[in-house]
Amino acid sequence: KEESTLSITVVGASGDLAKKKIFPALFALFYEDWLPENFTVFGYARTKMNDEELRNMISGTLTCRVNQRFSTLPDLSFPIPHDLNADTREHLQGKLPHTAKPSYLKNFELLIEAAGKVSNRLFYLSIPPNIFVDVVRSVGLRASSLNGWTRVIVEKPFGRDSESSGELTRCLKQYLTEDQIFRIDHYLGKELVENLSVLRFSNLVFEPLWSRDYIRSVQLIFSEDFGTEGRGGYFDNYGIIRDIMQNHLLQILALFAMETPVSLDAEDVRNEKSLRSMKPLKLGDVIVGQYKGHSKSGRSYPAYTDDPTVPKGSLTPTFAAAALFINNARWDGVPFLMKAGKALHTRRAEVRVQFRHVPGNLYKRNFGTDLDMATNELVLRVQPDEAIYLRINNKVPGLGMRLDRSNLNLLYSARYPREIPDAYERLLLDAMAGERRLFIRSDELDAAWALFTPMLKELEEKKIAPELYPHGSRGPVGAHYLAAKYNVRWGDLG
Ligand code: BG6
Repeated sequence: KEESTLSITVVGASGDLAKKKIFPALFALFYEDWLPENFTVFGYARTKMNDEELRNMISGTLTCRVNQRFSTLPDLSFPIPHDLNADTREHLQGKLPHTAKPSYLKNFELLIEAAGKVSNRLFYLSIPPNIFVDVVRSVGLRASSLNGWTRVIVEKPFGRDSESSGELTRCLKQYLTEDQIFRIDHYLGKELVENLSVLRFSNLVFEPLWSRDYIRSVQLIFSEDFGTEGRGGYFDNYGIIRDIMQNHLLQILALFAMETPVSLDAEDVRNEKSLRSMKPLKLGDVIVGQYKGHSKSGRSYPAYTDDPTVPKGSLTPTFAAAALFINNARWDGVPFLMKAGKALHTRRAEVRVQFRHVPGNLYKRNFGTDLDMATNELVLRVQPDEAIYLRINNKVPGLGMRLDRSNLNLLYSARYPREIPDAYERLLLDAMAGERRLFIRSDELDAAWALFTPMLKELEEKKIAPELYPHGSRGPVGAHYLAAKYNVRWGDLG
């Protein structure tokens, strides 16, 4: 725990992310005594609010790991937003729209000034791209003359292709050093994702198997059982490939497939993450879908294009499946299948590792013609109900010789009764400690875009129509054909 003073400034404080994730995470850290003695939280938002309104908005969503929900702020001195004097306070309710640029920037600079009075400053930028440059410039220019450290957490979208991402990077680097920039991908802060390396590198039963010799396919699956409700405006500009695959799923893949790092230091780990050895995605290895309206048990579920913020006839994918390959000796020929979708039948994120057949399996005939059913599968269920399980073949007890597949199951809720911290808690704490291992380095970001940009361009230029799937279904059948092309099946479908 650092003794010095710290200010945390959330820019975009009235946004969804701030409300649902950033403030609750800060509160949980505070509640569990992870924050320095002297810290102040500032909020800056485009929605006009006074102190009390902002406090009320935040306190309504403050939950912490002890599972309490506070309807009003608890009697703990959580210094939610600012402690400025009455004169400046009025200015700080300024709006953020870029048309009002000079005045909002002036107000923002006042806030930076206040934040600058303490020894260390963390800025969390959860803002749209059109105001990004101005905000970064203000922070960067002021930071260079302050003592202590200034760090800036930036949230995606980091552009929408190689070019726009490159521009953002150039802007960031003009005003901040790479050391000050913390590009967040909250999936890297999830407990099971953090455990991936532990599982692999500290277990002899897994480590030697981590290659094409034993692994037949790796599947990264993300599904949500709700649509883009309320976020259509943002989403339509990006689509599921940019929203989930190019960052969250790709980061898990890169961690999964990396070579053994020299140490657990941030640079060593990030040097080994395997993004640079991946082949750019081909359009033929991608299928896209979009949800359509559906009614079930007297309830009707809207189509993606029913959202008033989504342009009619939008071709933006809300579902995609893709096959990626890694160009190195360890993974040559192994398909890494990704699948991500909104408005599917369930909410789930998992990594499924499908192993090869046992050569000359003695029990082959006990599986009939479907020997595929006899391969082992290791599953990391990232959420919900965090678990790690291994599907093995087992003899069904009895006098006959019948085999079935059973799970060796490590269910976190049974093994570890303590609640699992939210990803944002871990990442905020890391940023405060200057630990960069779970943040995206600029070369990683470039590599990630290089993998997806040519395919995205082609997809959009050719105006490929997404395959429609009913809201609440298992997604388009095209995903099965994609897996079948590589001779595998999606593990989550049985
Ligand atoms: C965000 C995406 O990055 O991750 C959202 O923009 C998505 O579309 C969210 O809903 C999922 O995060 P989690 O932690 O709820 O799985």
